[in-house]
Amino acid sequence: MRRISFLLPFFLLIAVLSFFGAADGPDYDKDLLSPEFHAGRREALRNLMPDSTVAVFFSAPVHTRANDVMFDFHQDPNFYYLSGLREPNAVLIIFKEKQHIDTLFTNEIIFVQPRNPSDEAWDGKRYGPNGVKQHFKIASVLPGGEFRKLNIDYSKFRKVLFFPLPDDVKDDPYSKEDLFDYVAHFKTVTQKNKNNNTSILAESMAMLRQIKLPEEMELLRKAINISNQAHIELMRRLDSTMTEYQVQAFIQYHFMWAGAEACGYPSICGAGENSCILHYVTNRKPMEQNDLIVVDAGAEYHGYTADITRTLPANGKFSPEQKQIYDIVLEAQLAGIALCKKGNEFRDPHKAAVRVIKKRLKELGIIKKEEDYVKYFFHGTSHYLGLDVHDAGMYGALQPGNVITVEPGIYIPAGSDCDPKWWNIGVRIEDDILITAGEPEVLSGTVPKTTEAIELEMKK
Ligand code: GLY
Ligand code: MN
Ligand code: MN
Repeated sequence: MRRISFLLPFFLLIAVLSFFGAADGPDYDKDLLSPEFHAGRREALRNLMPDSTVAVFFSAPVHTRANDVMFDFHQDPNFYYLSGLREPNAVLIIFKEKQHIDTLFTNEIIFVQPRNPSDEAWDGKRYGPNGVKQHFKIASVLPGGEFRKLNIDYSKFRKVLFFPLPDDVKDDPYSKEDLFDYVAHFKTVTQKNKNNNTSILAESMAMLRQIKLPEEMELLRKAINISNQAHIELMRRLDSTMTEYQVQAFIQYHFMWAGAEACGYPSICGAGENSCILHYVTNRKPMEQNDLIVVDAGAEYHGYTADITRTLPANGKFSPEQKQIYDIVLEAQLAGIALCKKGNEFRDPHKAAVRVIKKRLKELGIIKKEEDYVKYFFHGTSHYLGLDVHDAGMYGALQPGNVITVEPGIYIPAGSDCDPKWWNIGVRIEDDILITAGEPEVLSGTVPKTTEAIELEMKK
């Protein structure tokens, strides 16, 4: 007994040393974006920054769901793109030119959460400054507390670039080294400056993020392939005895089983009247025999998200009216995809989809004047896709490396000014398209899309 108590301090020392010396970070995945990718993105941003400027990025806030329960932490996409770090309470500073700051001579500094055995016992492993230095290859890495101590004179730069500061950050009363304190400090030291700029960075980041590099495409393809397979499995499983939440559970099970960390956005599973609600996420209705269900769901893999919609007949067969509306949306979507070519304007696919929908709705007598199409198709057709489901991009001419969605829809709620036989029909078809030097590549193209192909898949 005495011998054990004599050795106890020695064991404790070994435990503490091995904790702080541990080379492994908290990430198990081997296919994350490489440190070279993130370093390259920081350099690309530096090249876009005007002379004598500094850019400051804050990690995403942690939000309370209820009482002691937090929402899943999701890193700010710009912060992730530039650093790779998926931890909260961090700040990244990128200087256009190398700077002497206290004892440092550097063009970038990241401030990160220090390691802390008791916090990590509750919330999981952290990299800590040493781990970040080893894993992420950012020139200067400091513990978060240094952000308030380091002497950075922001007034001497021509411009201080940052995104509008978050105003929904909660203070951790037990910490002086959390995001709340960093933002408060940054506000204090920059509030009198005339060189603050909160618009340039948004444009620079959009210019970078809208062109997907090969490493990003690997992850985005993985997210989309996982989602493709989940949508196909759903077609094989779906029947009208299911509820909307079972549809959601089934598709999300396939996302997670295949390795996705999350959904890129709340899954939309809207049946019957709910098919006409664009971002319906309640997902509580039992389906009925003749319902159409709009399933808009995409897996997120290492930050990159798919965004795919299919509209399915609950009972496996489209009614004649459902098929007529479906075929218009499909024709509009194909017309849109055909224009997903380099050099075309971002809105060209939308214009093509609108042309089809106007004409066909009028032919069916659902609208009397073509301009009334907006009653039934009242959203845009495309957005960029990537780290955000509605990703950053310039919305100018399409360029190789852009990934965009094409997702026209027609939604005819009950009570609409048309023959009631059309009521409660909502259809959206959404694919993810890579712009190339030649023809568009439909990344979600393996998911059946014609009414015949869907009915066939549903029989399997
Ligand atoms: N899933 C949201 C959207 O399609 O934009
Ligand atoms: Mn979309
Ligand atoms: Mn969608």
